Amino acid sequence: MDNKTVYLNGQYLPLDEAKVSVMDRGFLFGDGIYEVIPSYSGYLFQFQQHMERLENSLSSVRLANPHDRAQWQSILMPLLDASQDQSVYLQITRGTAPIRDHAFPENVTPTVFAMCSSIQPFTDVDLGVKAISIDDSRWELCNIKATTLLANILLRQQAVEKGCAEAILVKDGYVTEGAASNIFAVIDGILITPPKSHEILPGITRDVILEIAIQNNIAFSEDIISLDALKTASEIWLTSSTREIIPVVQLDTEIIANGKPGPIWQTMNRLFQTYKQSRP
Ligand code: PDD
Repeated sequence: MDNKTVYLNGQYLPLDEAKVSVMDRGFLFGDGIYEVIPSYSGYLFQFQQHMERLENSLSSVRLANPHDRAQWQSILMPLLDASQDQSVYLQITRGTAPIRDHAFPENVTPTVFAMCSSIQPFTDVDLGVKAISIDDSRWELCNIKATTLLANILLRQQAVEKGCAEAILVKDGYVTEGAASNIFAVIDGILITPPKSHEILPGITRDVILEIAIQNNIAFSEDIISLDALKTASEIWLTSSTREIIPVVQLDTEIIANGKPGPIWQTMNRLFQTYKQSRP
């Protein structure tokens, strides 16, 4: 199946034939949740972990899961192209209601959509990227992978307009995560990432990195990081399913790690590439 085929409510369709009603609550309210799952050579990376997060997002917004894990797998597999690295996007909205009303409609069927895109190799990965720090203007339920991403896109856009790859978000003087990534820092030789809470998305890439750190005796801690401490870090990384592990070499006006990806990033990136091949 070519990558222009998408899945919508039980059917595989060419992208330009996949249509959703303007009364869909995803369109009107952003009333939906989503997942992004990387696929390497046709293999869905950390599939069970992504499904677990999907289940948590659904129950947090009081949506029933329309499919079990095996059904999700059989829905997604035909969209994959094993000859390339891809990311699968899947979205579930509360569905199409007859009228626009904030409260949940009764007897609606959720809208289920999935598509696959090729993962564009991140060109600057070996050089590192620039990031800005910016106030985290998002809501209090950042652990839910909600489609309502207006704050995230406004924050990322400000980074892009300053020639930066990501916005690093700061709440009460402490960093939370990136606009679409989790954050790691190396401070005094220890790899640190903020603990899971309602202030961050529990990233699947983040979990893999911590698992690799345990397996390889890399010292780490899940702890809060102040923006001041971040500026003294010897390394900063941003992690996500689509960009993997990106080293930051400039934060605002501060040069990080002498302006080059650091040695712990080099090690972790190599271990991560091996982990990917092991098809966990
Ligand atoms: N976003 N934090 C936020 C706010 C994110 O949007 C993402 C990923 C992450 C990293 O999570 P993971 O490692 O599971 O991809 C953290 C995806 C890629 C997106 O919205 O496209």
